[in-house]
Amino acid sequence: MKNKESIVWITGASSGIGEALAKIYAQKGVKLILSSRRLDALKKVKRSCDNPENIQILAFDLNDFENAAIQVEKALNFYGKIDVLINNAGISQRSLIAATEFKVFKALIDIDYLGTVALSRALLPHFIEQKSGHFVVVSSVMGKYGSPYRSGYAAAKHALHGFFDVLRMEHQRDNIHVTMICPGFVATPIAKNSLTEDGSALGVDDVATRKGIKVDDFALKMVRAVEQKKWEVSFGGKERLGVYLKRLSNKLLHSIVLRSKVR
Ligand SMILES: NC(=O)c1ccc[n+]([C@@H]2O[C@H](COP(=O)([O-])OP(=O)(O)OC[C@H]3O[C@@H](n4cnc5c(N)ncnc54)[C@H](OP(=O)(O)O)[C@@H]3O)[C@@H](O)[C@H]2O)c1
Repeated sequence: MKNKESIVWITGASSGIGEALAKIYAQKGVKLILSSRRLDALKKVKRSCDNPENIQILAFDLNDFENAAIQVEKALNFYGKIDVLINNAGISQRSLIAATEFKVFKALIDIDYLGTVALSRALLPHFIEQKSGHFVVVSSVMGKYGSPYRSGYAAAKHALHGFFDVLRMEHQRDNIHVTMICPGFVATPIAKNSLTEDGSALGVDDVATRKGIKVDDFALKMVRAVEQKKWEVSFGGKERLGVYLKRLSNKLLHSIVLRSKVR
């Protein structure tokens, strides 16, 4: 975001990638709206940012689809407009299909896909009216290929690509942009917060995530990609090569993923 006058709304801003993005944008003097469920955590992030006078907080649950339009109205009331919505909030999974209760697949689709669709759809008329807008979506390499223990998560992230590729087509004429971000492993609490077989949180970090790219480095790359209005980018370690390998040989990717010991 080169223009300081821009207004950026970040979901999932209480932790991890969203928090790191908030700090970078705040340093640049961009006006921000920070969202997630936990009000206290959002207040803490705001206090830790430069220029806190440029930061508004809007706490809500993405699961609350029916009230997405109300949240958009509240967000618009802060500064009168929004230029960029960063759909970053999300939750991962660590459980095998055969052992996983149906409610877990539903929760992943609700939070990771439908929550983002509800919010973006509610903001869309405003972008159309102002003849500009930018939807940024934090997907995952799991939005491009799959891996054991992440069936419902990979499905929800794949769905985001289908939806936003079409949104880009339907609204190019309205000067609306879409950037899909596909992280590999980034060192955040994502694994700890991920859902297990019965929907409870894993509660511990996993090694691959802990050894992932540093969250501040990731966020800097992501901010650059957003400034450049890239359509789709992937940042991380060697796991992001799977995105390209899938285009060449799905079978080879399948056997490499099965050989890797990543849980
Ligand atoms: N870290 C990685 O390795 C990695 C890799 C690929 C993709 N990603 C994606 O990156 C995004 C950010 O994740 P992260 O790594 O920064 O993990 P994180 O630290 O666990 O952050 C997740 C954020 O989502 C918010 N959130 C979760 N459920 C929500 C709900 N129902 N309503 C509203 N907000 C909700 C959380 O805030 P509250 O608890 O306050 O609601 C938190 O701010 C996610 O979409 C994730 O899938 C991460």
